[in-house]
Amino acid sequence: MRWPHPPRWRGRLLLAAATLLTTTVVSVPASASAAVEPPYKDPSRPIPERVEDLLGRMTLDEKIGQMTQAERNGVSNADLTTYGLGSLLSGGGSAPSPNTASAWADMYDGFQRSAMATRLGIPMIYGVDAVHGHNNVHGATIFPHNIGLGATRDPGLVQRIGKATAEEVSGTGIDWDFAPCLCVARNDRWGRTYESYGEKPEIATSMTTLITGLQGAKLSDPGSVMATAKHYVGDGGTTGGKDQGNTEVSEAELRATHLPPFREAVAKNVGSVMISYSSWNGTKLHGHSYLINDVLKKELGFKGLVISDWNAIDQIDGQPGFTTAEVRTSINAGLDMIMVPHEWRTFISMLKSEVQAGGVPMSRIDDANRRILTKKFELGLFEKPYTDRSYTGTVGSAEHREVAREAVRKSQVLLKNKHGVLPLPKTAGKVFVAGKSADDIGNQSGGWTIDWQGKSGPITPGTTVLQGIRSAVSSSTTVTYDRKGDGIDGSYKAAIAVVGETPYAEGQGDRPGGLGLDSEDLDTLARLKASGVPVVVVLVSGRPMDIASELPSWDALVAAWLPGTEGGGVADILFGDHKPTGKLPVTWMKSASQQPINDGDGKEALFSYGHGEGFPLTQQAYDVIGAAYFDEQRGVQLERCSDAGCGQNVGWIAEGDYVGYHDVDFGSSAPTQVTTRIASGSGATGALEYRLDSPTGPVLGTVPTSNTGGWQSWTSRTVDMSRSVTGVHKVYVVATGGGGADLVNLNWFQFGR
Ligand code: GLC
Repeated sequence: MRWPHPPRWRGRLLLAAATLLTTTVVSVPASASAAVEPPYKDPSRPIPERVEDLLGRMTLDEKIGQMTQAERNGVSNADLTTYGLGSLLSGGGSAPSPNTASAWADMYDGFQRSAMATRLGIPMIYGVDAVHGHNNVHGATIFPHNIGLGATRDPGLVQRIGKATAEEVSGTGIDWDFAPCLCVARNDRWGRTYESYGEKPEIATSMTTLITGLQGAKLSDPGSVMATAKHYVGDGGTTGGKDQGNTEVSEAELRATHLPPFREAVAKNVGSVMISYSSWNGTKLHGHSYLINDVLKKELGFKGLVISDWNAIDQIDGQPGFTTAEVRTSINAGLDMIMVPHEWRTFISMLKSEVQAGGVPMSRIDDANRRILTKKFELGLFEKPYTDRSYTGTVGSAEHREVAREAVRKSQVLLKNKHGVLPLPKTAGKVFVAGKSADDIGNQSGGWTIDWQGKSGPITPGTTVLQGIRSAVSSSTTVTYDRKGDGIDGSYKAAIAVVGETPYAEGQGDRPGGLGLDSEDLDTLARLKASGVPVVVVLVSGRPMDIASELPSWDALVAAWLPGTEGGGVADILFGDHKPTGKLPVTWMKSASQQPINDGDGKEALFSYGHGEGFPLTQQAYDVIGAAYFDEQRGVQLERCSDAGCGQNVGWIAEGDYVGYHDVDFGSSAPTQVTTRIASGSGATGALEYRLDSPTGPVLGTVPTSNTGGWQSWTSRTVDMSRSVTGVHKVYVVATGGGGADLVNLNWFQFGR
């Protein structure tokens, strides 16, 4: 039998055979040729031992194969076996047909069988950009893009999103997710602003919990996939926000603004790091030995694998196509695996010739292979190389969609709410909805969804904002939709305009010019404004837009970002089932000419970093009972209400009865008055007392109650506050007097200054 192994291995074999002969053999296996499994195939052995054993068996060709990642469309199954390619990827939108979860799993398993058929049976690892859910797969749950997740300020939620994403990715066989992007977007002109959690490193640093969600406790756990911290480093800081451009900052600024999220990612044991296309002060990151070898691998102690971006080594010399010199430079700079989608044969021959010429030392090749093989062993791929089909059914599951809807709710940022027009009453009677993005899953999902660039239209199953609105309102309310706003008139309670950006990805989203609304949106908004009804704008965009000149004519503005498939989460806020808690993760410009504009740079913003309103205390009583911050009540009931915009009011309020609310935010300056909307047919007189923190707490204000002409004869009564209060408290409206008789009906109340 020909031993195709280097002398070192043959020596080991003869020694082993000699040992076998001197050992008392009690029973010889039926077929003497039954192979003894080599150590690297023994899962009971420590991974470093398995790696060394395997490495010692590999030829140079096999080692270079491991360092090569090809695109699924650029390789055949036979190639995979012949060249022993270490990895495959699906570029954005590169999917099997049909594009179903099980077809993905079949595709993955097919490629994996070819990899396992190689001489040493080294499994391949397959990567995808699941950057807001498993977004290449039709029917997958699509979560809000990172900028919306930054607005939630909820790392625990992001970890849960990572776990859900990992389950859906695992269900299609894939073991490597090119996420999270830990870019710190400093210029909103950048087409990848929405892939950033925000303009400050601390947000991205906090959201590295996505890595924990994706990777689980151990990479080999079922439902875990390897995460990727990308794009190292400074991709969000390029001059002019140019994608793949030049980040011209001092090392101190680079370390202060762009490095911290990667430091945290390494601390969270991220399995891989993807290098940025961009340059630092004129040197391409893909050739930057100091930042990769010295900072990432030595200073930060990164032990995982460093992957290039798509054909990115082509850019090192600034000329199209890649050269032997670029291959040498990138590998020696510390890249371990090269994403070379179609020209992988060229790459392999160039790297081999460089090694043989001494341009790339064997020690570098071995280090890269140790990193790659270590991750494959940690993922358990040698033991379980094929899809765990028990996760295939999680793709697009109701459970995951509920997590997504929670994320949508928490990412909504209320930027304006004149006269407390929001939340809209569910029993508003007539609501008009308009805008190109009201009924468009593609627009609300943005780029990296089914297609690399994303696409408008019904591209995947989900709930549009309009469908969410229709589900939220009561059966007595009609919702009229017209994309352009045709048919609006003064009979509607309000008009909701869902406008903003159409999908884009990467450099195709760069906006060196204007950042304003397109002409269709402006026409729609003008039509709505002419009707005279309150206009609520829901902005579906991947970044702040230049809307300062239009804002005065809007009654309310909600930044919805790119919510993904669960548009119901937007309606949850619009109609008060949940109150808005989102905070801006980026500074909102007054004008595009201000870009870049960031917190602390002294420029005057339209809305500051961290801005985000809650709901005012003007709250329709009937909503209050069902709304987000109704807390408790005693002795009262709801009844039909005929007051304008009212659906139900609180009734049967007699002495000692009360309604309580939690999380009432009085803000930082104390209100001086409270207005209460009441009606009474009672012959008794009494009062409603606003009490702080408990039904027997300090009195904030007292509203006398008396007959108003009837139980549905409504009037607003304003009194001065008798106590100064700020911040968030519970508030109780407590009835006093009247000797037990019903005193008054309550519709809403508002604290004011
Ligand atoms: C793209 C992106 C990168 C992505 C890679 C693979 O060009 O820059 O974020 O992971 O190629 O699709």
